[in-house]
Amino acid sequence: MIDPKILAIQFKSRFGDWPQIYRAPGRVNLIGDHTDYNDGFVLPAAIGFYCWVAISKRADSDFVIFSENLQDTALVRDVQESSGVVAKWSRYPRGVIRELQSSEYDLRGANIYVSSEVPMGAGLSSSAAIEVSTAYALLGLFGHKIEPLRVALLCQKAENHFVGARCGIMDQFTSCHGQTHNALFLDCRSLEYRKIRIPDGLRLVICNTMVQRQLSSSDSQYNTRREECEEGVRRLGKVLPSVRALRDVTLAQLEKNRELLSDAVYKRCRHVITENDRVGRMASALETNDKLAMKDLMHASHVSLRDDYEVSCAELDLMVSLAAQQDGVYGSRMTGAGFGGCTVNMVLGDFVAEFQGHVSAAYLAETGRRPEIYVCEAADGAAAVEFKK
Ligand code: GLA
Repeated sequence: MIDPKILAIQFKSRFGDWPQIYRAPGRVNLIGDHTDYNDGFVLPAAIGFYCWVAISKRADSDFVIFSENLQDTALVRDVQESSGVVAKWSRYPRGVIRELQSSEYDLRGANIYVSSEVPMGAGLSSSAAIEVSTAYALLGLFGHKIEPLRVALLCQKAENHFVGARCGIMDQFTSCHGQTHNALFLDCRSLEYRKIRIPDGLRLVICNTMVQRQLSSSDSQYNTRREECEEGVRRLGKVLPSVRALRDVTLAQLEKNRELLSDAVYKRCRHVITENDRVGRMASALETNDKLAMKDLMHASHVSLRDDYEVSCAELDLMVSLAAQQDGVYGSRMTGAGFGGCTVNMVLGDFVAEFQGHVSAAYLAETGRRPEIYVCEAADGAAAVEFKK
């Protein structure tokens, strides 16, 4: 866990003055993957891994951004410059600066020091965490009101426009609105949400396969999935004119019109429609502490992502099947975009240590990769952080 005072001292020794500090968390999604950009439902929780940003004003209009993790500095002078020539990590803060400026926020120059605890390329939204923490820091530093929903939408735009991933709203929304002990049951069309308390005694255990989401190829596969969903909407919309997104299609309507769709598009649609239904049922299962229902729903979600949406991989499938063999586990599935990354598991507190030991050893024996296993609590969203000089 990063100590804000140490971060402030590091900032001061690099840039010469004391900073303000902000932080924004990564997230884990309990259920509802690849539904957000289909106007559907998701059930994520922010986790206690944060991206921290220390910031102070500069006399000129430059933005100097230092990444502690990568030991790299980016200079943003003309934010309209081509994104092709800059280091990939810096596209996130650059995109945020550009979106804030084009939304008419007045920003002058700043020194920005970024240090992140969110594992990168693991599907835990390290990107949303850097975007949201940078946005909070810039808005806070220049005295603008911080409106979490507006920030989430603006950071999503930054990622869509500047990084080129056509992501939905889930990650940025969760990073802004996370609540300790709770998941968020979010309607991605209306952007209304309800807190869903995670039953006491259950821990969120995240298993990192250590298969990195290969950002460029997974971004392009992600975008392809999104296009397949859009094609489903176009074709189904010809016979069902009220359909604006897959959110509006029932399973019966899909089955009835199956011949309008290619096999791949049919399967993508079936995943989204059944997954939306599972999200609502999972919210109820959490509220009534129905652990067996949680387990079934998470399993069905994994199978659907694996077989219909085709975004799992051998390592994720193995991690899920190893988890299923452990005692005290009430649900296990891949989480996030897929193509590598992590699984999320609901584990009874008393069984966590045993779970970690067994899953880790078995996964290492089968794959030769040592997994990382994080035991998390649902955490609070982005905020300014006070520290004593
Ligand atoms: C990524 C995207 C999200 C969402 C998930 C899959 O994390 O950023 O918007 O689509 O994948 O559920």
